[in-house]
Amino acid sequence: MSAKSFVVVTGGAGFIGSHTVDRLLERGCNVAVLDNFSTGKRENLAQWAESDSLEVVAADISDGIFAALADLEERWGKVERIVHLAAQTSVVHSIENPLNDVRNNYTGTVQVLEYARRKGVRKVVFASSAAVYGDVSTLPVREDAPCNPLSPYGIDKLGSEYWLRYQSSIFGMDSQPLRFFNVYGPRQDPRSPYSGVISIFSDRASAGKELRIFGDGAQTRDFVYVGDVSRAILLALFAEGGTGEAANIGTGNETSVNELAALINEFCGGRSTISHAAARDGEILRSVADVNRARELFSFDAKIVLRDGLKTTVASLQG
Ligand SMILES: NC(=O)c1ccc[n+]([C@@H]2O[C@H](COP(=O)([O-])OP(=O)(O)OC[C@H]3O[C@@H](n4cnc5c(N)ncnc54)[C@H](O)[C@@H]3O)[C@@H](O)[C@H]2O)c1
Repeated sequence: MSAKSFVVVTGGAGFIGSHTVDRLLERGCNVAVLDNFSTGKRENLAQWAESDSLEVVAADISDGIFAALADLEERWGKVERIVHLAAQTSVVHSIENPLNDVRNNYTGTVQVLEYARRKGVRKVVFASSAAVYGDVSTLPVREDAPCNPLSPYGIDKLGSEYWLRYQSSIFGMDSQPLRFFNVYGPRQDPRSPYSGVISIFSDRASAGKELRIFGDGAQTRDFVYVGDVSRAILLALFAEGGTGEAANIGTGNETSVNELAALINEFCGGRSTISHAAARDGEILRSVADVNRARELFSFDAKIVLRDGLKTTVASLQG
């Protein structure tokens, strides 16, 4: 039996998941990825093909995870910690197909937590989202702001957070929900609702085509680099304690879509013109995280500035 920490990463073949797996393996953990490959890809983990410390198991978390982990428990012992990232990630899809969202994002979480409770897992870190807030009146948004999610996706993330808090208070399991803002970086899915705009602008700017912005472009987001996010996940995972109180994961900086388009255009040779079209209904105008709680709870501060992170991302998208 191995003396290394045994960590399970649900959704580990996805964008944020595969970067998290990289860090866990570099730290010397044994890692089991559970993924149904709905959006995740085996190639995101291809760099570890020769490693004895990584096992990738095809499994749907909403069916339960006991059977998927049974063989690995024999080999590596008890699961010490879980990073729960597996989810249906499209807000639009969640509105069109709410029951599917509940199955993946709510039942899936309860299945993971039921395993954690019955097996005595030490800590669970969960990928929540800024979508739990809905429209906010005070910026930067703090974790104690009212939560009024505007989609089944946001509701299921918030409901999942309550489950973590419940398990922590009733069963003493340490847990940490993280409310990610707009995560971007290499391996992001070009269709991502969070940062897909970066892929679209990058493709068009590389071809010298016009970049079209919906609305006046003054709408803002808090874009946080995936390398910072995976670092935050590990800091939270190995920090002592965790009562289930959520922490924002962002940079604390607001970036407008106009600024984003200009930067991407610059990195791609500056050949595109930038135009504006009618604003999209229901789009949130401003979003930025208050980042104090993550700093207090597990000493996390984002370090990668947008200019550097974007340059790396655009280069990776250009292949
Ligand atoms: N990317 C962002 O900006 C962002 C922002 C807020 C929250 N999040 C959350 O972070 C997590 C990771 O998102 P991502 O951007 O890496 O997306 P992603 O689509 O790349 O990753 C999700 C992974 O989960 C897997 N998966 C989905 N449903 C599953 C199921 N039922 N069983 C097993 N595996 C399943 C997918 O195949 C994929 O590998 C998600 O929970 C998402 O909601 C992401």
